[in-house]
Amino acid sequence: MARNGFPGEGGVADGPEAVAASTVRDAGLAPAGRLKVEWAEAHMPVLARVAGGIAQRGRMRGVTVGICLHLEAKTACLALALHRAGARVAITGSNPLSTQDDVAAALAAAGPRVYAWHGCSPQEYRSFLNAVLDSRPDVILDDGADLLALLHAERPAQAARVRGATEETTTGLHRLRAMAAEGVLRFPVIAVNDARMKYLFDNRYGTGQSAWEGILRATNRLVAGATVLVCGYGWCGKGVARRAQGLGARVLVAEVDPVAANEAVLDGCRVRPALEAVGEADFIVTCTGNRGVLRREHLERCRDGVVLANAGHFNVEIDVEGLRALAESERTVRPAVTEFRLRDGRRLHLLAEGRLVNLAAADGHPIEIMDISFAIQALCLERAAGRVAETAGGGGGPEPAGRVVPVPEEVDLEVARLRLEAAGAAIDALTPEQGTYMRSWR
Ligand code: ADE
Repeated sequence: MARNGFPGEGGVADGPEAVAASTVRDAGLAPAGRLKVEWAEAHMPVLARVAGGIAQRGRMRGVTVGICLHLEAKTACLALALHRAGARVAITGSNPLSTQDDVAAALAAAGPRVYAWHGCSPQEYRSFLNAVLDSRPDVILDDGADLLALLHAERPAQAARVRGATEETTTGLHRLRAMAAEGVLRFPVIAVNDARMKYLFDNRYGTGQSAWEGILRATNRLVAGATVLVCGYGWCGKGVARRAQGLGARVLVAEVDPVAANEAVLDGCRVRPALEAVGEADFIVTCTGNRGVLRREHLERCRDGVVLANAGHFNVEIDVEGLRALAESERTVRPAVTEFRLRDGRRLHLLAEGRLVNLAAADGHPIEIMDISFAIQALCLERAAGRVAETAGGGGGPEPAGRVVPVPEEVDLEVARLRLEAAGAAIDALTPEQGTYMRSWR
């Protein structure tokens, strides 16, 4: 079930498993990880404020939170905030290449149970997801829906006891809406990704900056004067394209949605079908959330030296096996760069094995961005924890079961206000006359 793992592997029984101790690569890395976490924490004032309120209200005390998230420093800050608010936290990484072993060690030393290491195999990835589920979470935070899909597919009796969940990503929400439409989703999932304070900033400015950070760290190449092809003009694609323009690139966009394509045109991009555009590009960045975006027929047309990067959640956008089949040789030329040499001598440079380039070749979104996203997550988890599971005798709660539900407006607004305060910005209020005018029609 886990898209990062092996489909079809045997399931795990629903019986009461012992909760395993943390599984990290090297506990001795904790001091280095702690420095990273302290650096992030110093730049996350919104999460700190929100976490203070949660601790004071006490609703997370004794609640078990199961988390599947990119296990880097900002994520550790969120896990620690929940732990300090009295929750029992069990956490794994949401991508085999995004876990930072020093951060995982530091987090495990601080109290939460951590099951993750960098470069885990698909089988290990699955076993880590199951270890989190073995902790019997009351609420779940997912990033990409691997944890929730595994729970529903293979541990349905346990799913019925979960109060609610939150989902961080566009991709995860696609999967969860498909589960809800099939009637298999057992509890409400709050669509954190769809909060205005999330997608307008995290998906656009977060991915925009961090995807380029990953590409530039990996390659050390110049973007000014280059041609960049962005596949997909959703919020992530818009961010990646805008930052490419800022770095001085000519930007091409490939889209399937005519409205988004028009937006790209007015944003100053040339819109062409991918098959035509690939031959012009020095950098190609996929951000569609879909599979098979760069297939064999695209890869065959690429220029010598092209850089191929994926900024979508799963490693399904670039057909790596197709690339391998086209190539006569392959070698690692820099830490996150694999060079595929085609039979005619052209070299195609794939970053981070086609996995999320911003997390596999860099540290993920900027701290200030995750400060906002994780403040929303923390407040939504508190809400989910307040809902009593049907099997616990409460019979429903503030949210209907088995649906993807929006982030409450007051959460969006609270985080917006706190972020403005942190940024030293201030806004106006409507006068009473303006308020009346906006509510009237005469
Ligand atoms: N850091 C932690 N979670 C992340 C996410 N979903 N995207 C980018 N950076 C992150």
